Amino acid sequence: MAIRASQGSPYSRILGVGGERGKRVVDNAEMCTIIDSSDEWIQQRTGIIERRWATDDQTPLSMATGAARKAIERSGIDASQVDAVLLSTVSHMRQFPSLAVQVADELGLDHPAAVDLSAACAGFCYGVAMADSLIRAGSAHHVLVIGLEILSRQTNFADRGTAFLFGDGAGAVVIGPSETPGVGPVVWGSRGEDADVIWTEYWDEALATGKKPVIHMAGNKVFKWAISEIAEKTAEALDAAGLTPAELDVFIPHQANNRITDAMLKRLDLPDSVVVSRDIKHMGNSSAASVPIAMESMLESGEAKSGDNALIIGFGAGLVFAGQVVVLP
Ligand SMILES: CC(C)(COP(=O)(O)OP(=O)(O)OC[C@H]1O[C@@H](n2cnc3c(N)ncnc32)[C@H](O)[C@@H]1OP(=O)(O)O)[C@@H](O)C(=O)NCCC(=O)NCCS
Repeated sequence: MAIRASQGSPYSRILGVGGERGKRVVDNAEMCTIIDSSDEWIQQRTGIIERRWATDDQTPLSMATGAARKAIERSGIDASQVDAVLLSTVSHMRQFPSLAVQVADELGLDHPAAVDLSAACAGFCYGVAMADSLIRAGSAHHVLVIGLEILSRQTNFADRGTAFLFGDGAGAVVIGPSETPGVGPVVWGSRGEDADVIWTEYWDEALATGKKPVIHMAGNKVFKWAISEIAEKTAEALDAAGLTPAELDVFIPHQANNRITDAMLKRLDLPDSVVVSRDIKHMGNSSAASVPIAMESMLESGEAKSGDNALIIGFGAGLVFAGQVVVLP
């Protein structure tokens, strides 16, 4: 006797987006009191003018919950309809329980499936792909996807090659069923052979030595990978959605470095009509939170509008990457 299998909605789409940024603004002048650098060097190499850091009262739980609450309110569904939570973070300082279950409880959700994802700066786009698959397979109906990072608490301030890059924030979307396609095919993958390009120490080593794990990165290797393989994968994600560059409205790459974004634009050959996120200028690199935070800000400022086709891509430690086209809520 064959067992019954679940069947879902034909398509899914993003219903609402919300974000929360670190409350403390740290400009390059202040950064240069911590590391030996200059405003000119940082801006020229990355585009960053200032970054946002979490204040003491902003915790992983409070920031993830704040962003998620906004996303649910804007999605037009009742919180009780959320039946899965996917939370991507490298900033939850506990092996278990997951932050996702705590966020679900804090929001008063009705005991949804809840799990943390570890895919660093690609985590939000991994979550979007998984949410789309869950909904189309009938395993969930409304999925809350959250990216949350407080990287300022894991930064190596003795390393002037990385310390100026990072920002803190949370971004969230609710993805639900749709009669028309709202999430394009994902292009994703990993390069475990490059695990030593961006990494932190193991916690057991850290406990033995008394030194807190911090972020280490071979910046130049990441840069070269991003402007070659990732630029190529970004073009594949656009193509997989069946769009030409002229049919795209918005481009929201992971906010890692404006020069990486410039190189991607060159490869994609996007027309001037496509609006490109440069959120990094005032935010820094907020890893899994960078794409949804930038999405919220573009919708709020009117640069992008509901119904626009947006190409999103995340890439980072692993190495891992994921990208797709989504219709903006
Ligand atoms: C980090 C990054 C901005 C560094 O820029 P870069 O051009 O690769 O710089 P390099 O590390 O090659 O260093 C170049 C020079 O600048 C110096 N330098 C490094 N950090 C500096 C700083 N903060 N201020 C001034 N000079 C600095 C180096 O000492 C080096 O000097 P040298 O040539 O005399 O040895 C760049 O590699 C980058 O953005 N990479 C991608 C990072 C990323 O996106 N990571 C996240 C992915 S999720």
